[in-house]
Amino acid sequence: MEERPAASEIRTGTTIRPASVGSRQPRPLKEVEAADELRFHTGMDELDRVLGGGAVQGSLVLVGGAPGIGKSTLMLQICHNLCQFATVLYVSGEESERQIKLRAQRLGILGDGLYLFSETSMEEVIAAVEQHRPEILIVDSIQTIYRTASSSSPGSVAQVKECTMALMQLAKGMGVTVFVVGHINKEGSLAGPKVLEHIVDCVLHFEGDEHSSYRILRAAKNRFGATNEIGVFEMGDRGLMEVPNPSEALLSGRPKDTPGSCVTCVMEGVRPVLAEVQALVTPSAYGNSRRSSNGFDYNRAVMLAAVLEKRGGLGLSNCDFYVNVIGGLTVDEPAADLALVVALASSFRDKSVPYDLAAVGEVGLTGELRAVHALGQRLSEVQRLGFTKCLVPARGSGKLTAPDGLSLIRVTNIREAIAALC
Ligand code: TYD
Ligand code: MG
Repeated sequence: MEERPAASEIRTGTTIRPASVGSRQPRPLKEVEAADELRFHTGMDELDRVLGGGAVQGSLVLVGGAPGIGKSTLMLQICHNLCQFATVLYVSGEESERQIKLRAQRLGILGDGLYLFSETSMEEVIAAVEQHRPEILIVDSIQTIYRTASSSSPGSVAQVKECTMALMQLAKGMGVTVFVVGHINKEGSLAGPKVLEHIVDCVLHFEGDEHSSYRILRAAKNRFGATNEIGVFEMGDRGLMEVPNPSEALLSGRPKDTPGSCVTCVMEGVRPVLAEVQALVTPSAYGNSRRSSNGFDYNRAVMLAAVLEKRGGLGLSNCDFYVNVIGGLTVDEPAADLALVVALASSFRDKSVPYDLAAVGEVGLTGELRAVHALGQRLSEVQRLGFTKCLVPARGSGKLTAPDGLSLIRVTNIREAIAALC
């Protein structure tokens, strides 16, 4: 259900052309003057990377995430650096100024140029911006801010949209860089309408497993950069810490000599990241098998299990299986296929995969292994973290020389891959 105010007047028929129409003209591209967009560093390299090399002045950035993931903490922490060279206005509709102060104290944020404003009325926010002229405005969260002029309740679709539009006007009109926090609803999309994503310049998703301290910041939309970069943080007792070396962090605590686990390398933007894919295969209890997947696309996992059954000769149809990617990471790259196939086979046969082996490759429906892009970069990362063997598709890796200390096991299909391991 979407609430919409009744249109006061519906025009029909031909419209009258206002006198001003026609006064503005399209311009040829080469006559448009444009300098590079002005960027500034937020003081957190991981955030800068996701934004495409720093925040663009006058842009509107939406940071979405589940409650308690650390959105407010992230916003407050970037203030620490931002307020050293700019005036920052931090508007919170959720916490009192005292609460924010206490949190800032705990995080060690002093902030000379940081102004706190506990307010939920959009009109008041606009007035404060006009009066204090901050360079950076942070609004936590969009669902708590409302326009008194609008009759709908705070957090409703109409309100969220109107307030975002108003913030966009502040950003474009006055050159204020605006960071907006948005809540995620149960389905995992940004609460409020999808239209919100169309309005803003950047949409960042702050994700993480509730049982893990790792947080991943991912760009879902970016008008000023690529969207495939991720930033990795760890939540500790002193707030969010950047994790410049995510592979090492994600692999820490990996079990040795245990079946059902295989490491792969996925590309997150231009950065290779190692991930541990786990699978648990058990006989089904009541005839109908249960399958579930966490961090790995469910349909793809089921498809790979079917390929493994048909082309690899493993009787998985009478088995339950559960798939998990460690550390709250979501792998959505076909290059992780081989690792899942190996993990499933390893759990099914109850034989562990060598601790120093990684697997990279896409699996097709006939069980063939297909080439993946950026294989050289992935192998360097695999080698850097101390792996000595890597399963790779024979196709596409023929001319590749492996980094020192890493031996490649070239396979053409999953049957060969399983034979090489278990
Ligand atoms: P918060 O930023 O309030 O989440 P959001 O704004 O996304 O709802 O973060 C709240 C969680 O972060 C809370 O459960 C406690 C945890 N936390 C820490 O572990 N360490 C810290 O230093 C801070 C400030 C929060
Ligand atoms: Mg919050």
